Amino acid sequence: MSLKLRLLASVAALLVFALLLGGAVLCWQARAAVRDEIRTTFAGAQKEVDATLAGDVQHTLTMRQVIAALNGGRNVRGFLLNEQNNVVAASRIAAVGEPAPAWFASLIAPPQLTARIAIPLPGFPCVLLLQSDAGNEIGEIWQLVRDAFAAMTLFSVITLLFVWLIVDRAMGFFRRLQGGLGIISEGDYGARLTASGPPEFAALAEGFNHMAARLSSYRKSNHRLQKQILSLQEEERAEIARDLHDEVGPYLFAIQVDADAVAKSGNAQTRERAGAIREAALHIQHHVKFILRQLRPVAGLDFGLETAIDDMIAFWKRRHPDITFERRIDFGIHLDRRSEETAYRIVQESVSNAVRHGRPHVVSIALAEAEDGVRLTVEDDGEGLGATGAQSGMGLKGMAERVQALSGKFTIENRERGVRVCVQLPRADAREMEEA
Ligand SMILES: Nc1ncnc2c1ncn2[C@@H]1O[C@H](COP(=O)(O)OP(=O)(O)O)[C@@H](O)[C@H]1O
Ligand SMILES: [Mg+2]
Repeated sequence: MSLKLRLLASVAALLVFALLLGGAVLCWQARAAVRDEIRTTFAGAQKEVDATLAGDVQHTLTMRQVIAALNGGRNVRGFLLNEQNNVVAASRIAAVGEPAPAWFASLIAPPQLTARIAIPLPGFPCVLLLQSDAGNEIGEIWQLVRDAFAAMTLFSVITLLFVWLIVDRAMGFFRRLQGGLGIISEGDYGARLTASGPPEFAALAEGFNHMAARLSSYRKSNHRLQKQILSLQEEERAEIARDLHDEVGPYLFAIQVDADAVAKSGNAQTRERAGAIREAALHIQHHVKFILRQLRPVAGLDFGLETAIDDMIAFWKRRHPDITFERRIDFGIHLDRRSEETAYRIVQESVSNAVRHGRPHVVSIALAEAEDGVRLTVEDDGEGLGATGAQSGMGLKGMAERVQALSGKFTIENRERGVRVCVQLPRADAREMEEA
């Protein structure tokens, strides 16, 4: 059950309990009041009849007259009974204005009071019977109780309505807060709440806005740091490449020249050994060239991303002629230099992973214009990531960092067969606006 319904149900239950309790107290008091009233008026009527009988010394009054004197009484009736206990005459009780419903009457009715006064008339001994009748009193108190209960019910309904309105407003705020948190969790830190309404909500909204602002500033500084790390990395790679090229290259060349010289001057065995040295040096030279290409691929971007990717494909094709490389690059895609570098690195690492870990038949590279920037996909039909998914090595980590530095999205997942790396890079103008 929702919090709103719970609150309303609790308040409603409390109000119903209060109504029942109030009703019970009302009935209890009404019952006491009716009982007291009937007792008093009955005693009064009895005294009056006694006084009338005692005062009639000359016997000028008939018993019928005594009974008739009780006519129109609200709470007491008189009866004249003969020797056989038959009613000879009875007084009329005042008409009941609005009778109470039977259930209320039976709840409230006090015990009936009776008094028998024997009249020993010579020749006509009879009995004067007085009886209480609470009908009038109950009818009167019923109206009071009914009106009080109706007022209490109206009050309860109004209270419930107010509680509903207040809870609904509060829930509206929580719904907005929930929406804002959803937006934040999607990575959009621009969400803000209006800090109005009760002070508690205003404070919550301010706290939320503060958190969103902090997150957004952390992301900016995170991007800056990542950018710095990447450029430092590039510098370092360039330096290593330079060292490799300048320091190792000449010596490898020297080894080959020296091996040639040794071969020329020696006997057959020496020539063979010198040839082997030359082979080994050549092998190392090839390897160093390969490492240099890996370290400084970005230089290839001077002729455009498409050419650089084609070069890369040619490079892999030479080594793995059994693998088919497909590439689909949409016409007219424009990427700034940073995005091009990132895209190139992603393709480089993904293709290298596919070839090294997947043993695929086909590797496809696709670069397409998307709604929110550029979408780069590298797919292979190799062995896939295995049961545990991608074991995050330096390669995957590096790709994710590069994409994050450009506020893009990076995913790697298994396809039906093989692996799909998917990267979304925002357009440069959108990125700059966010980084500003
Ligand atoms: N295309 C792929 N096919 C199969 N396995 C892959 C693929 N790409 C990544 N992997 C798995 O993910 C791991 C992590 O990759 P990576 O971070 O690039 O590290 P490395 O390539 O140095 O092992 C790899 O060791 C491999 O097990
Ligand atoms: Mg790798």
